[in-house]
Amino acid sequence: MAHKKTALITGISGQIGSNLARVLVEKEINVIGLDINEPDYEFNDFLFVQHDTNNISEKRTIFDDLSQRFGDIDYLVNNVGVSTFDDFEDRTEEDFDQVISTNLKSVFFDIQNFVRKFDQNNQSSAKILNIGSIFGTVSSDFRNYTDLNRKSPECYGASKAGVIQMTKYFAVHLAKRDISVNCVSPGGIFDPKNPQGEDFIKNYSHKTPMNRMANVDEIVEVISTILQIKTNYLTGQNIIVDGGLTSW
Ligand SMILES: NC(=O)c1ccc[n+]([C@@H]2O[C@H](COP(=O)([O-])OP(=O)(O)OC[C@H]3O[C@@H](n4cnc5c(N)ncnc54)[C@H](O)[C@@H]3O)[C@@H](O)[C@H]2O)c1
Repeated sequence: MAHKKTALITGISGQIGSNLARVLVEKEINVIGLDINEPDYEFNDFLFVQHDTNNISEKRTIFDDLSQRFGDIDYLVNNVGVSTFDDFEDRTEEDFDQVISTNLKSVFFDIQNFVRKFDQNNQSSAKILNIGSIFGTVSSDFRNYTDLNRKSPECYGASKAGVIQMTKYFAVHLAKRDISVNCVSPGGIFDPKNPQGEDFIKNYSHKTPMNRMANVDEIVEVISTILQIKTNYLTGQNIIVDGGLTSW
């Protein structure tokens, strides 16, 4: 019988994380979820571990503990992400550092610890999937934000550009271990719990060939499909899932 796969996902309590956990559990994949906040759901074959991703020394202990309890971890999904919304003229050092540290530095240390355990366990293959953003390759269009005070800032875009670059770096450096490393970069996802403004949605949709924002299920479908592809020859790619927004 095929061994049941295990996925470790950061940012498990948020919009993408919670939907991804549900879909992977439905596909008979064990899910270990990390987040600073507790999720508001539970499943069989789902373990939540509370963790501030910026606590680098705790991260080492958590990877040691999980590896001891569960053995091989087949998939690492670096999904945790934050932003800040002041205009750049008002950016504080603290906010800038928080975004870069959470979105980029913590991803590096998750990968470092994941590979350390992979080597110690003599594991034969794995997949790493980073979550980027369209703003890692293009700027947000400020003209869209007529009724939405959540303009995507320079430090968020820079952190995601770093994630996309690090995807390529690790795809190259981990290829001989048969670990593939890819990035899924979503465009704007409609958030029913905290909806973007009506005008914003209209403006953003007008700029998108598909003429709408993404539904979270569509992003999760791409992530779960890439995790389940039975080859690691797909590696080093930034897969942009944006309804064509960055194509014209
Ligand atoms: N929602 C979108 O439109 C969109 C678009 C492009 C990319 N993304 C990216 O997708 C990923 C997931 O986004 P989302 O929409 O689910 O966001 P979300 O805000 O719903 O979820 C983020 C999760 O990260 C957790 N988190 C924040 N800081 C943390 C920390 N220090 N330690 C541990 N956990 C922490 C939060 O508690 C939350 O559960 C992020 O990397 C985000 O940048 C989202």
